[in-house]
This record gives sequence, structure tokens and C-alpha cells, in this order.
Amino acid sequence: MTVPSRATTPALLQIDAVLSRLQGRAALQEVCRFLHESFRHYRWVGVYRLEGSELVLDAWDGPAATEHTRIPVEKGVCGQAVREGRTVVVDDVRSSPDYLACFLETRSEVVVPIRDAGKVIGEIDIDGNEVGAFDRSDGSFLETVAAKLTAAVVLSGSAALPPAAAGSGSSPSPFSVLPGH
Ligand code: SME
Repeated sequence: MTVPSRATTPALLQIDAVLSRLQGRAALQEVCRFLHESFRHYRWVGVYRLEGSELVLDAWDGPAATEHTRIPVEKGVCGQAVREGRTVVVDDVRSSPDYLACFLETRSEVVVPIRDAGKVIGEIDIDGNEVGAFDRSDGSFLETVAAKLTAAVVLSGSAALPPAAAGSGSSPSPFSVLPGH
């Protein structure tokens, strides 16, 4: 159990507050920042959006940028979660044939689909620095978070912005904060 049950309700309330204040990519960035800051074992947190047959990195927070800002769905643990339409937990990335390496420190990964009316439109991707960093408590917590992110991912996809390649995941996008919010 790596997400204590006492932590999930306050975290979900915080995420609701973020989503009532921000929209689109700005909301995704703030949720990534919040998850990274709140859970020690979430060493790198990103949100990818499915664009055709590619996953595009829309927002991230962590110590460093990833080179994998676009991932074809046939590649990576990220692609596997889309292909199989389910949460994928990799206990040890060194034993996963699908794994695309981003950071030397990464030892485990969890990828959780974000859906719109049942169809996968994106995913939350989190790296951990210990083998077996994620368990079912992370999966079910992150599935609840993912269900809250549908509108933000849809809106992020409708704003013609480049992938979040350069700079911190917490840089606000001028396009994503709608007037009146
Ligand atoms: N490891 C992922 C690629 C994305 S990075 O973790 C940020 C994968 O295997 O798809």
C-alpha cells in the first residue's frame, strides 16, 4: 500500500479544487505538480494525450524533461496501456520488454488511461525510483484522478499548442486559462 487511504480523499478534493480553477493544459500541469509534490514515490508525473496513433506529452512535473514527448502507440509501457486499454504497473522496468527508458533512476512505472465515454484519450504516466514502488492503491487512486481529467485533456487537445517539450511542467499556458477563471 503506497497511497495511504487517509491521503486519497484530501488529495482528490485538492484536485477538484485545481480543476474548478484551471482548465486545459494549465489544469493538467497543476495536477502533475500536485501529484509529484504530494506523493514521495511519484518521482516524475506526466499526462500524455492520444493524437491519432501517437501519445503527445501535454504536461509534466519532475526533476527533468523527458525526450519521449511523442510516443507511437505501438511502443513503450505508455503505448501498452493504450493498446490494452488498462492500467499497467511495471514493478521492475529492467524486466519489461516494452519499456522506453527516460531516466537512469527509474525502476518502476504506472500508466493509467484517461477515457472519454469509454474511449482512451490519454493517460497519466508516473515513474518511481524503487522496484515495486506502485501497487493496487496507486492504481485505484490514479484511476479516480484520471476520471477527473477527461475535460482537461479534451480542451488541451483543442488548443493548437506544441508538446510540452521545453521547460518545466508547471509553466502556465496562456491558452489554457479561460476568461472568468
Ligand atoms: N517509460 C515510458 C516512456 C515515458 S517516460 O517514462 C517519461 C514508456 O515506456 O512508455
